[in-house]
Amino acid sequence: MTAQRLDGRACAKEVEAELTQRIAALKEVGITPHLAVIIVGNDPASHVYVNSKVKTCERLGIKSTHLELEESTDEETLRNHILSMNQQEGLHGILVQSPLPSHMDEDALTDLIHPSKDVDGFHPENLGRLVQGRLDGMLPCTPRGVMRMLSWANIPLKGKRAVVLGRSRIVGMPAALLMAARGADATVTVAHSKTESIKELCAQADVIIAAVGKADMVQPDWVKPGAVVVDVGINRVDDDSRERGWRLAGDVHPEVAEVASWLSPVPGGVGPMTIAMLMENTVRAAELAIQA
Ligand code: GUN
Repeated sequence: MTAQRLDGRACAKEVEAELTQRIAALKEVGITPHLAVIIVGNDPASHVYVNSKVKTCERLGIKSTHLELEESTDEETLRNHILSMNQQEGLHGILVQSPLPSHMDEDALTDLIHPSKDVDGFHPENLGRLVQGRLDGMLPCTPRGVMRMLSWANIPLKGKRAVVLGRSRIVGMPAALLMAARGADATVTVAHSKTESIKELCAQADVIIAAVGKADMVQPDWVKPGAVVVDVGINRVDDDSRERGWRLAGDVHPEVAEVASWLSPVPGGVGPMTIAMLMENTVRAAELAIQA
């Protein structure tokens, strides 16, 4: 079997086309959606992600504020930026790129973002709503992107056995909640670094969502023939044969494509969907701000 490609770029393009219309409707009433993206420090991968978010804003006509702070910035300074952005009328979304430098308390800082501007969906109020099964809050972008891509490809989840690899706040836990939510109706197991017999567990799954950050972890013999595999990993692996000295690898070994029915590529799978969902959350925040 050669897996069909879960083409995040193509799906994101459709999301963007729909957003373009919603942005035009907002502009007709004098509102331009506005996203602030804050990055602290020099992590090269984070800078690539943030630049890509800002570029997508530009392409869609969303205003962006790109705030770059030094690695040595103190927490108080970042706190003040967030509090001031909370007050700024006409600024609809605030995103603090993770990870923050180790001297900062990432959870405490995320908690400061006003829930209505929390386009990452990481605030306890938004995550709490998700736990309650209410899908009307801001939902985390990567898990939402995964769900949207599965639904776009008409992949059934109802009653299926899903294994989510990873229990992070950004991907694993919210992805598990969305998969198990009414409407999606999958039966979900969350596996993590302490899970026993993880390979055997995966081999029973109809759907695997890999979000652990370990290159090529999911091997072909972990996957049931015909299973759907979503690769959330973006890992830099040393590779001397490349001019830049590294290559990108997902959490799923490429040969899984010989076993799975669907597989999302890296890059070009979940990545573009995360950004598309961030844009959608920003547009939605702007739409809700009118009604507030
Ligand atoms: N770092 C990796 N993914 C994300 C994300 O979705 N949001 C933020 N803020 N930081 C990230």
